[in-house]
Amino acid sequence: HPIYLKDYRPPEFLIEQVELRFELDPEHTRVESRLALRRNPAATRGDGSLRLHGEQLTLMQVAIDGHALTPAEYRVDAEGLTMHRVPDRFTLETQVEIHPSLNTALEGLYQSGDMLCTQCEAEGFRRLTYFLDRPDVMARYTTTLVADRTRFPVLLSNGNPVARTDLEDGRHSVTWDDPFPKPSYLFALVAGDLRAVEDSFVTASGREIQLQIFVEPHNLDKCDHAMRSLKKAMRWDEERFGREYDLDIFMIVAVSHFNMGAMENKGLNIFNDKFVLARPDTATDVDFDGIESVIAHEYFHNWTGNRITCRDWFQLSLKEGFTVYRDQEFSADVGSRAVKRISDVRTLRAHQFPEDAGPLAHPVRPESYIEINNFYTTTVYDKGAEVVRMQAALLGPESFRRATDRYFERHDGQAVTTEDFVRCMEDASGRDLTQFRRWYEQAGTPELSIQSKYDATAGTYTLSVRQETAATPGQPVKYPFHIPLTIGLLGAEGQALPVWLAGESAPPAPGTRLLELTERAHEFTLVGLTERPVPSLLRGFSAPVRVRDDLSDADRMFLMAHDSDGFNRWDAAQTLHERLLLALTDDADHPIPEDYIAAFQRALRDPSADRALLAEVLTLPSETYLSDRMTVVDVDGLHRAHRQLTRCIGERLRADLLAVYHDSAETGDYVFSPEAVGRRALKNLALAYLVRAEDGEGLALCRAQFEAAHNMTDVMAALRLLTEQGGAAAEAALDAFHRRWAGESLVLDKWFAVQAAAPRADALTRVMALLHHPDYSARNPNRVRSLVSTFSNLNQVRFHAADGAGYRFLVGQVLELDPANPQLAARLLKPLVRWRRFDPERQRLMRTELERVLGSGELSSDVFEVVSKALA
Ligand code: ARG
Ligand code: ZN
Repeated sequence: HPIYLKDYRPPEFLIEQVELRFELDPEHTRVESRLALRRNPAATRGDGSLRLHGEQLTLMQVAIDGHALTPAEYRVDAEGLTMHRVPDRFTLETQVEIHPSLNTALEGLYQSGDMLCTQCEAEGFRRLTYFLDRPDVMARYTTTLVADRTRFPVLLSNGNPVARTDLEDGRHSVTWDDPFPKPSYLFALVAGDLRAVEDSFVTASGREIQLQIFVEPHNLDKCDHAMRSLKKAMRWDEERFGREYDLDIFMIVAVSHFNMGAMENKGLNIFNDKFVLARPDTATDVDFDGIESVIAHEYFHNWTGNRITCRDWFQLSLKEGFTVYRDQEFSADVGSRAVKRISDVRTLRAHQFPEDAGPLAHPVRPESYIEINNFYTTTVYDKGAEVVRMQAALLGPESFRRATDRYFERHDGQAVTTEDFVRCMEDASGRDLTQFRRWYEQAGTPELSIQSKYDATAGTYTLSVRQETAATPGQPVKYPFHIPLTIGLLGAEGQALPVWLAGESAPPAPGTRLLELTERAHEFTLVGLTERPVPSLLRGFSAPVRVRDDLSDADRMFLMAHDSDGFNRWDAAQTLHERLLLALTDDADHPIPEDYIAAFQRALRDPSADRALLAEVLTLPSETYLSDRMTVVDVDGLHRAHRQLTRCIGERLRADLLAVYHDSAETGDYVFSPEAVGRRALKNLALAYLVRAEDGEGLALCRAQFEAAHNMTDVMAALRLLTEQGGAAAEAALDAFHRRWAGESLVLDKWFAVQAAAPRADALTRVMALLHHPDYSARNPNRVRSLVSTFSNLNQVRFHAADGAGYRFLVGQVLELDPANPQLAARLLKPLVRWRRFDPERQRLMRTELERVLGSGELSSDVFEVVSKALA
């Protein structure tokens, strides 16, 4: 049954103080809780009873103000505890038992290897103890952890450690006190035989913060990058947002079994170890990047999420959208802004646009859900970040900073809504964002159609802009959005021209200008133009929209060469690639234009080019992305076209690619810097074109690189290409890699993934065989994703094989996983949700498999929601 935003009511009771005591043991953990409850003066009075959330708990005792309740005074069911009569203010004591070692859902308290840890967001705290497990109930926590001293020498929870005791029976206890009131989803505990890398940070106001990263002993040598990233993030948040850290200690723990990326528990962030552990020889540049931004993301939550939290889960984007925006800005500031923007937009287009166009489309602030875990989506996160970014653009930097200052000041310590956020934007800027709020309310990606007309005699250039948003489930009618549209104009020499609107007395300085769309159609007349300009539209991707314009290929080549906006240079190149790939998909004999090849050759030969940007420009859009651009996806045609164009570029630009490869050779030790990352990216892209064109020299270089490289970026680039090529060389490389990295779990994930991604004819057979490999484990989400999700998301041509075997395989995996780990199972299903986009026969095969899920009896609410909405 769905839960609706419109049904929100404030809680009838508040909890002021929480005292918890955990007697930790993987098999039986005893949890004692003492809660100071009082009636909420702001809520309407109910029938005098109180219901607390609780799942999978064995209740041993319950007492109110020291008096044990008799069975007639309460009722326990699968979802909670109801006490029939409670006073207006009282102390509730409960004792429950839980079983971490049997917890395969990885929500609540569970075992990962030899350690115990928690994941409470969104509704996992109710698996620890009976509670008002909702984010608008904020309390102060004191937590005592008791466990065997040898097995669990390290005992961590939120806040500051205030007492340590050795107990007689070989156990010890540590008490933690968190001075900041918090919602239950931010509670955490960790117990294990862990080692810490330590450092410290002095805040802007001169407080010294102790920093600790806890890992299993053999990972101590893989924490440097995470620690550096943390310190950078702490400094950046002070400088850019005026946010200082508040506790005296900040801890991160790396865990190898984790459903998501990481979790911002107060003072004790718990991470999927993939986003902590890195050494140049074990992790790629993409991994280093991911660590930097996830460490920052979780740290930034301390203000956007923890100090100020969400009133209810419909407001999830309040913290996630804003925090993603903040981590994106951080990465842009410490790396290359254009490259960061390109990669964020790539993600948005590849994942969020399809979500917005499919059966699971939902607004940034959803109106209803069945299972909140299904709403940690790219819409809530990434489109949510775009919605914050657009407000920053509309307000301008000074006013936006005033608005965020006001938000932090006004709402510190509160559980609030996206509405409260927007009101701060309005109050600090004086702008009316009434219409802008539709970005939170309406699902769907607006499409802008932009037509241009140049009038040489009048010297005017007219842009006619229309916006249209297709209906989404439950929202048949869409109202126009308030859209910031950033544009520039280029003259014949590539110089910036002023964007001068008719009616303005004088031209503005040449450069970028922000236009605002509020109606379904606008006409902008630009004046003072003695020649037809080339427009650079939606610079920096100023709004999460699709654009259909009337530019020619020649205009796009011109923009690619001259636009001062790095993002738009890339976007022009992408559109050129895309148009050509779609034409080749329809007709294998479509000519590959000379000027297209020449444009990329010029780009490759430009000595001043930024290598990272150049690598982006030369990267073809993925088959999955392209399939979203077709009315009916032609799986095989796209794959053929992609190969054909790749090979053609590899052959035609052979000499330039070899030259780039040779001048980008690695010299000296691995460095993680934007320049070095860009150089490796370009080198490995050149290598990929050569190998995919089956160039003999390219293949030899690839084998040599696999043998000689000292950093994982170069090793993986070579291994990926060798695996794609297949044959004895591939098998030998895979074996050598496996032998070299036995025991390094995150590296083995790469070994599984590289095989699952290779678009070879035997891909599925191989993936199915790997399910039985001794290193495969269905209990480790990273391992499952490396094999199953890589195959179904990144190997489009094999997953969508015409006989439906890929679909049967995926559904088999989902059904096996669902009873153990519903969150993971529901995520795995995602590639089938797009079933209506394929040809009739594939549609039938996919629908049959989705129906098989629906018909298979006991489903989790997670999987049920995804599959029932997908079929609706
Ligand atoms: N808040 C975490 C983050 O940083 C994600 C937690 C996701 N939890 C879940 N049950 N889906 O983004
Ligand atoms: Zn987050």
